[in-house]
Amino acid sequence: MSRPLTIAVPKGRILKTLAPLFEAAGIDTQTLLSDDRKLIKETPDGKLAFLLLKPDDVPTYVEYGAADLGISGRDTLLERRYDLYQPLDLGVGRCRMVVAGPRGAVVPEVPRIATKFQRIATEHFAKKGIQAEVIYVGGSVELSPLVGLSDLIVDLVETGTTLKENDLVEREVICEISSLLIANRAQYKLRHAEIAPLIQRLASHVNQS
Ligand code: PRP
Repeated sequence: MSRPLTIAVPKGRILKTLAPLFEAAGIDTQTLLSDDRKLIKETPDGKLAFLLLKPDDVPTYVEYGAADLGISGRDTLLERRYDLYQPLDLGVGRCRMVVAGPRGAVVPEVPRIATKFQRIATEHFAKKGIQAEVIYVGGSVELSPLVGLSDLIVDLVETGTTLKENDLVEREVICEISSLLIANRAQYKLRHAEIAPLIQRLASHVNQS
């Protein structure tokens, strides 16, 4: 038998939201969700193998063909640009990329922006003709305007609770974000007979709302 179709998936929160969609599409998620530290998990029928990765690493494994398919956030794909197919928006992990800051903040001509998404932020402000100073922070981005590190932030907002609890307000939405199915370009063609029906089954259960 040929090697299993390999799918790179993000560990953690997002995997739990993906599981019902996988199940609906006929993918056995019992092994995938089992509570152990294994980083490669195969379905009992040996047809699928999952690689459990940090979300930001998923596109790298798929681009280089170590995985045939993967699940990645649009934020990561926009920020780092990969040579991949993006055959399906899975409609899970929905959130938005926003510009936020302290309520009523007067922003200087060259604002300093703290973000994990430097490319997205730089391009957004450039499009508006604003030459922002964009600095990288790896997390807890909402803290930075509170202590004078930045004027504004560019970050993901899901429920809005983190902004609210830190007295920040949304100023602009840059784009909507969700999880996408991604595919290695060569494997997408070579294993089309296995990949196409899988995409079809997932597509028929994607929540379009
Ligand atoms: C993400 C994001 C926001 C928060 C938004 O952070 O960067 O901080 O979730 O969610 P909310 O609108 O529902 O409050 P995450 O929890 O991934 O941690 P991080 O700060 O380390 O990035």
